[in-house]
Amino acid sequence: MAAVTLNNIAKQGKHGAAMMPIIQGVGRAAIEIAAVLRSAVFRGALGQAGAENVQGEQQQMLDVLSDEIFLDEMRSTGFVCAVGSEEQEELLVIDEYVHSDYLVLVDPLDGSSNLDVDGPVGTIFSIVKRKTDNSICPHVSDTLQSGQEVIAAGYVLYGPALMMVCSVGVGVDGYTFNSSNARFELSHPNIRIPESGGYYSVNESNADKWTDNMGANLERLKKESGLGMRYVGAMVADMHRTLIKGGIFLYPADDKNPTGKLRLLYEAIPMGFIMEQAGGKAMSRDVAVLDIEPESLHQRIPVYLGSKTKINILLSKNAK
Ligand code: AHG
Ligand code: MN
Ligand code: MN
Repeated sequence: MAAVTLNNIAKQGKHGAAMMPIIQGVGRAAIEIAAVLRSAVFRGALGQAGAENVQGEQQQMLDVLSDEIFLDEMRSTGFVCAVGSEEQEELLVIDEYVHSDYLVLVDPLDGSSNLDVDGPVGTIFSIVKRKTDNSICPHVSDTLQSGQEVIAAGYVLYGPALMMVCSVGVGVDGYTFNSSNARFELSHPNIRIPESGGYYSVNESNADKWTDNMGANLERLKKESGLGMRYVGAMVADMHRTLIKGGIFLYPADDKNPTGKLRLLYEAIPMGFIMEQAGGKAMSRDVAVLDIEPESLHQRIPVYLGSKTKINILLSKNAK
């Protein structure tokens, strides 16, 4: 029987047909980025680019290359009028397709501190429909839409296998790149986060700086749930394990990052969308991630993602 490929998306829900070519573009970008990652050491492309991104973080050469590849593949779809990227200060308008209906938000290379140690990294994306009329140039306000408006989202995991996990709002599917035919094939249909088992995943070295009573909340969760612990330090890898094995991933606010570290538009909303589509819960303090109305392109928020049971224990009010 012929394998199911990314074309499958066209048959899903009311937006699948419109989303399929854009997600195919993400797939092409993923294949190119994976090739660049594999050969980076030979091309002298490991290490810092020498510039800071808008968030004041050192850009790695691979952050910059991945961003260029992603933008180019979004242009090649013909359906994307603009891209908001973690690596770009301003919204990037695609002049040739300025009248198209969709905008894409992207963290082109997530977990880039893992690059020097050959650890897993990822790409995170979401797709929204523009609010402005498509006769005019898209505006940054088109990107400032809550997770309730997201039409499709997903992530790519550059691990031992190249995978894409995505949703067009009717559940979550995982596709694995098959290098023998150069296609993403459906390998993980209808992913649901398990309610039992799994791990807690957090940078616990920040525990003494956490706000929001997080230290006590996490201790209670650990005691009540008996979860094991895993932390990769790349959100895509930590999220993917949480989705498949169960448990919870969090990046709480702390004294150093009083509004959290993870970015609302490039990390929290797309991963929150996937987590909820897989039957889990995505919270930012006591507010659902998908209910937050973004105020700016590079806004950060505290993020707690996981199974409903584990998130409920973490947020239960009897913590002292
Ligand atoms: P990015 O590489 O896109 O800047 O994202 C890094 C993020 C995320 O991937 C991860 O969950 C988190 O930073 C890890 O932060 P710590 O090193 O502070 O644990
Ligand atoms: Mn990231
Ligand atoms: Mn990044």
